[in-house]
Amino acid sequence: MSADRARASIDLGAIERNCSRLRSELRTGVQLCAVVKADGYGHGAVHSARAAVAGGAGWLAVATAPEARELREAGLSAPRVLVMGALTRAELADALAADADVVVWREQDVQDVAGAGGGRVHVKLDSGMGRLGTRDVEQASQVLAAAEATPGVEPAGAMTHFATADELHDDGFFARQLDTFARWAGAIKAAQPQLLVHAANSAAVLRDRAAHFDMVRCGIAVYGMDPFGEDPSARALRPALELTSYLAEVKLCRAGESAGYGRRFVADHDTYLGVLPIGYGDGWRRALSNNAEVLVGGRRHPLVGTVSMDNITIELGADERALRLRGESATLIGVQGGERITAEDIARRLGTINYEVTCALTPRVPRVYHRGSAPAGQQPGEEREA
Ligand SMILES: Cc1ncc(COP(=O)(O)O)c(C=O)c1O
Repeated sequence: MSADRARASIDLGAIERNCSRLRSELRTGVQLCAVVKADGYGHGAVHSARAAVAGGAGWLAVATAPEARELREAGLSAPRVLVMGALTRAELADALAADADVVVWREQDVQDVAGAGGGRVHVKLDSGMGRLGTRDVEQASQVLAAAEATPGVEPAGAMTHFATADELHDDGFFARQLDTFARWAGAIKAAQPQLLVHAANSAAVLRDRAAHFDMVRCGIAVYGMDPFGEDPSARALRPALELTSYLAEVKLCRAGESAGYGRRFVADHDTYLGVLPIGYGDGWRRALSNNAEVLVGGRRHPLVGTVSMDNITIELGADERALRLRGESATLIGVQGGERITAEDIARRLGTINYEVTCALTPRVPRVYHRGSAPAGQQPGEEREA
C-alpha cells in the first residue's frame, strides 16, 4: 500500500532510456538537448536533467533564469544550458551568471548581453511560430553579425521553433517553416561553420530527419509521453511518471444517496464508493468530475461525482468485498495488472495535451524517484551526475 495520500513516482531509468531512444534517431554528431523547464514538465528538473545527461543529453534547456540557476546549484556544471525564454535585463544577468546561453533576435539584445558582462547567444529566426524571434531573415543575419562584432558576445547558435510539428496534417506549414529556416541556416553556416543550428522539438525529431540539423531540443518525449498525443508505446517511449493515491475510505452508498459537491453522482442502486485523498489541489483537475477512471486491484473503476480540492470518489460496485479494498493502492496514471492509464488518456478527457497533465501536478504531490524497481536518491544531491 502506498503511504502517501498522493504520490508521483518517477522512473529515472525511463528518462534515461527515452533519451537513448531519441538519440538513436539522430545522425552521428547531432546533439540532444533535454528540455527540463517547468520543473522537468512536472517530473522534477534536477533529477530529470541528471537522468537525461546519463542518457546522452549534452545540453539542457529551460525557459527562465532561475531554472538555469537551479540546475547549476544542484551541481550540473558540465552540460551547456540554454535559456529559451524572454528575459528582462535583470533576468538576463542572472542567466549569464549561471553560465547559460541565451536567445537573442534584436541588436539591442546583443548590446544587453554585452552590458551584462557578455555571454553566448543563439539568434532566433521566427520562421512561423509567431512568438519570440524575428520574422525578418535579414534582421536575423544582422543580429548574428552584431554578435560577432561585439566584444564579449559569442555567437553560439542559430535556432527556430516549429508551430505544427505535432500536427501531421498541417497543410505543409511544417515543411514551409523548415524550408525557411534551412535556407537561412545553410547561408549562415557556410560563413560561420562553428554555429550550432537547432530547430526540432520531440515531434519534429520523430517526424523529419531534415529538421535535426546540429542539435534537437526534446522535452515531452524525454519523459516518455507522445508528442502527437498518441499511445507512447507505439513510438517506443516509456512514460516515466506514475500518479498514485490510496483508498482512505470505502463506504456503502445506498440507492438515492450521493457523493461530493453538487450531488453530481447519485447512486441508482446500492454500491460501494472508495474515497481517495487526491484532488484538484494536487493537480487532478476538476474537469475530471464523472470523467475519469482509476485502477484499483488491477481493475478500472469510474471516478464518480465532483473532484474536490483534496478528495475524489470512485465507484467499486455492489459486491461487499469492496470493503476489503480499504487501504489499497490506487493508480491514476500508470499501470496496474494488465490495465494502463496514460497522461494522453487524461489529456483526451480534459480536451488538452499530455504536457499540461504532468505540468499541472502541484508541489503538494511528493515526487519519489526510482530506477526500474530500485529506489533512487531522493534529494537531487544524492545522485551524482553521470
Ligand atoms: C523553444 C522550444 N524548444 C523545444 C521545446 C520542447 O518541445 P517538446 O516538449 O514538444 O519536445 C519547447 C517546449 O515547449 C520549446 O518551447
